[in-house]
Amino acid sequence: MNKTILITGAAKRIGKEIALTFSQMGWNIIIHYNSSKKDAQDLADQINTHNPNSAKIIQANLDISSDVQRLVDESKLCFDSIDVLVNNASTFYPTPIDDISEEHWDKLIGSNLKGPLFLIQGLKDKLIESRGSIVNITDTNLSKGVANFSIYASAKGGLESITKVLARELAPEVNVNAIAPGAMLEPPDITWTDEQKEKVIANIPLKKMGSEEDIAKTVKFVVSSKYMTGQVIKVDGGRSLS
Ligand SMILES: NC(=O)c1ccc[n+]([C@@H]2O[C@H](COP(=O)([O-])OP(=O)(O)OC[C@H]3O[C@@H](n4cnc5c(N)ncnc54)[C@H](OP(=O)(O)O)[C@@H]3O)[C@@H](O)[C@H]2O)c1
Repeated sequence: MNKTILITGAAKRIGKEIALTFSQMGWNIIIHYNSSKKDAQDLADQINTHNPNSAKIIQANLDISSDVQRLVDESKLCFDSIDVLVNNASTFYPTPIDDISEEHWDKLIGSNLKGPLFLIQGLKDKLIESRGSIVNITDTNLSKGVANFSIYASAKGGLESITKVLARELAPEVNVNAIAPGAMLEPPDITWTDEQKEKVIANIPLKKMGSEEDIAKTVKFVVSSKYMTGQVIKVDGGRSLS
């Protein structure tokens, strides 16, 4: 029986690369998306061309509780098992203290913390049944206290805390780990100037940005490391050292 991975926010960028990596390993892929329906469908078609009937897409806005519940219910019906959940979907934008509103709080906490928590709660039994893994994608920068990102940092910091708490609660059946990327890609819909890019790279000991592949390979490694749980793996070119 082929294993199944559910990746949130998998239509594009890092989530898409994780989907392609696991598809190459013969896994079934559940591609979650919110607004990128065409990208999600194109990715599923691409995967299904090589591995027929191995990819399905499910839409859900992780800010909405009933959508998260529907994602849980529909995911359970896709294939025989759910072996890995990757909480990859994320909303990312600054919220200087004077601009903070409840709407921003709900949006940044919804996709980065609340959605992932309730998704784990809903899929817990399937993951226990399969002796599976949860991989939460966080952010290497959050512990540095980056100005203007208090809500996003709270959400990702919360996700790292949940990783450790649930590593204990779901042991010994389910491994729960986090991967904290550094500067991999420019934020969606933003193109940095050469000067901005140089500034970012100057703070990275390995003197380059990372890539989608760097994270996808780490997810593969984390999922295969069955004696590792409750850990946060930084994939950031050494940025967190400086
Ligand atoms: N890129 C980087 O350099 C970097 C650095 C540090 C950490 N990370 C972390 O790595 C992960 C992947 O990064 P990325 O840059 O590839 O992510 P991204 O492109 O910013 O977002 C991934 C997907 O999240 C989905 N999403 C956003 N809000 C949602 C909501 N309310 N409900 C459901 N889905 C929602 C979007 O899906 P739709 O397009 O379908 O709407 C989006 O395509 C994220 O967790 C990010 O925080 C990335």
